[in-house]
Amino acid sequence: MARHPDHDGGRPAISRLRPRSLTVALAALLLVLAAIVVAVQQHEEDHRGPRAQPLAGTPLRTLARRAGGRLIGTAVDDGALRHEPGYRADLAGQFSSVTPENVLKWALLEPTRGKVDWSGADRLVAFARRHDMAIRGHTLVWWDQLPAWVQALKGNAARQAMHAHIRAVLHRYRRTIRTWDVVNEPFADDGRRHASVWQSQLGDGWVQDALRTARAADPTGSLWINEFDAEAIGPKSDALYALVKDLKARGVPLDGVGFQAHLTLHGLPPTALANLRRFAALGVDVAFTEVDVALADGDPASDALRRQAGVYGDVARTCLAVSRCRGLTVWGFTDEHSWIPGTQPGNGRADLLDGRLRAKPAFGALQRELAAGRG
Ligand code: G3I
Repeated sequence: MARHPDHDGGRPAISRLRPRSLTVALAALLLVLAAIVVAVQQHEEDHRGPRAQPLAGTPLRTLARRAGGRLIGTAVDDGALRHEPGYRADLAGQFSSVTPENVLKWALLEPTRGKVDWSGADRLVAFARRHDMAIRGHTLVWWDQLPAWVQALKGNAARQAMHAHIRAVLHRYRRTIRTWDVVNEPFADDGRRHASVWQSQLGDGWVQDALRTARAADPTGSLWINEFDAEAIGPKSDALYALVKDLKARGVPLDGVGFQAHLTLHGLPPTALANLRRFAALGVDVAFTEVDVALADGDPASDALRRQAGVYGDVARTCLAVSRCRGLTVWGFTDEHSWIPGTQPGNGRADLLDGRLRAKPAFGALQRELAAGRG
């Protein structure tokens, strides 16, 4: 009779095969474990992304926290956040606060009336929460990056749209975004109000209207006015100062004033520290909210980079010298994703890291100044 291959003289097949099958199972398990280790290593490499060398030293976010609990923030480019693992690694590793560079602006949220795309802002909020980062909500009411349909609104329709926009955005994010640039760039360089649909349709009162609407929609958020080129004491910052003083005197909700600090090698103006202090004395927090230091393409590399580092260091020192300065946010952290070359042709290299995520002298200067400010 032909013998069944699984039988051996009546011995149960299982006991005959046990040692061999155990060996096979063990080998398979080892193979699976090895595959997992390789996959994790691969993931780590992907996560770091292409870079010549890792960023050395204590992370900026640790140094800023030790320096009196300040925040170190950056604007975030949505494309880089989605597609660049190295960018994500440095973002989470170095920064304790994020500002959406564009995705929370009205033109990107609601280009067509009633069709709101929250996806970009949702993505950044989720990332920030995963990495224990604060978020600056930028920005609710501005003259730029408005949808065409908003710019065409007249009178009361403009007011109603502004209210509805503030309420909708705060309703969605008030639990996750705790600081808001409610009003962005209300003034022109000469200290008059900046031209906008708000100014032409609602008059000067639109600023307090926006702040009061935001407070009603989010009773505990920190509400800010954020201004461009107002670091020096001069016509623009004087007008802003008078506005803040008036708003505070009348009990309009306002918690902070942001100084953007889009700078060049001319550096921070000598009156910047006194300017920050006079605003803080009005009873508001202050911060540098959009720092970068543009270089001209013709500037010789080493000298320009050294001077640029000096400007970044100065910004950090100035903030640390004011107890109500909550911190500083850079407007992007890599030259690869900076608004400067696209808007000011012939200028660039304005950020802390170069296009391949390598630290420039400015990065070291920020580390040194934050470390020196340890409380
Ligand atoms: O959304 C369009 C997209 O549909 C189109 O394909 C693409 C083609 O260029 O353009 C996209 O719009 C761009 C937009 O950012 C959104 O990504 C504009 O071209 C571009 O000019 C715009 O620039 C932004 C600028 O604000 C608008 O004024 C910059 O990225 C952003 O860094 C800059 O940020 C401002 C702050 O919000 C306020 N303070 C000044 C600062 C620098 O200008």
